Amino acid sequence: MKVLLISGPNLNILGQRMPEIYGTQTLADIEDLVGKRAKEWGVTIRPYQSNHEGAIIDFIQQERSAEGLIINPGALSHYGYSLRDALEAFPGGKMEVHLSNVHAREEFRHNLVTAPIMDGVVAGLGWRGYLAALDALVPMLQERLNRDAPAPPADSETSA
Ligand code: DQA
Repeated sequence: MKVLLISGPNLNILGQRMPEIYGTQTLADIEDLVGKRAKEWGVTIRPYQSNHEGAIIDFIQQERSAEGLIINPGALSHYGYSLRDALEAFPGGKMEVHLSNVHAREEFRHNLVTAPIMDGVVAGLGWRGYLAALDALVPMLQERLNRDAPAPPADSETSA
């Protein structure tokens, strides 16, 4: 099973960027932590970061065979309608993560245009939010795969 780990604008400078809000971990640290947890789940993580909305959309379209994705869209969450449309067209499971509690910050951060089409949203848990998202997403995807798997032939139990 493959899960995309997508990071939007300005998340490439995590660690240096307002550490009192976003924490001291770098994006590489977070990708590493998520990658390790994913391995425990038997899942492959494909990380991607871009400061450009179009590049993120291209990536989501190219990787539409992945079973799921976890995305922190950065500020694109607040106004990125093209990104929202790309996420809506992605057939797999989708989780949105924000390191900070966007609802407790400036008013423009309260509106999340991407959130309504996600399976779940995690905000305010710092880097732990990514692990929480993964731990919720993987069982969700496993259930989905089992549900969508073709039923075995009626006589499979007797013929084994
Ligand atoms: C963020 C919150 C956004 O409002 C902000 O623009 C970011 C990071 C977060 O992880 O808390 O870039 O998505």
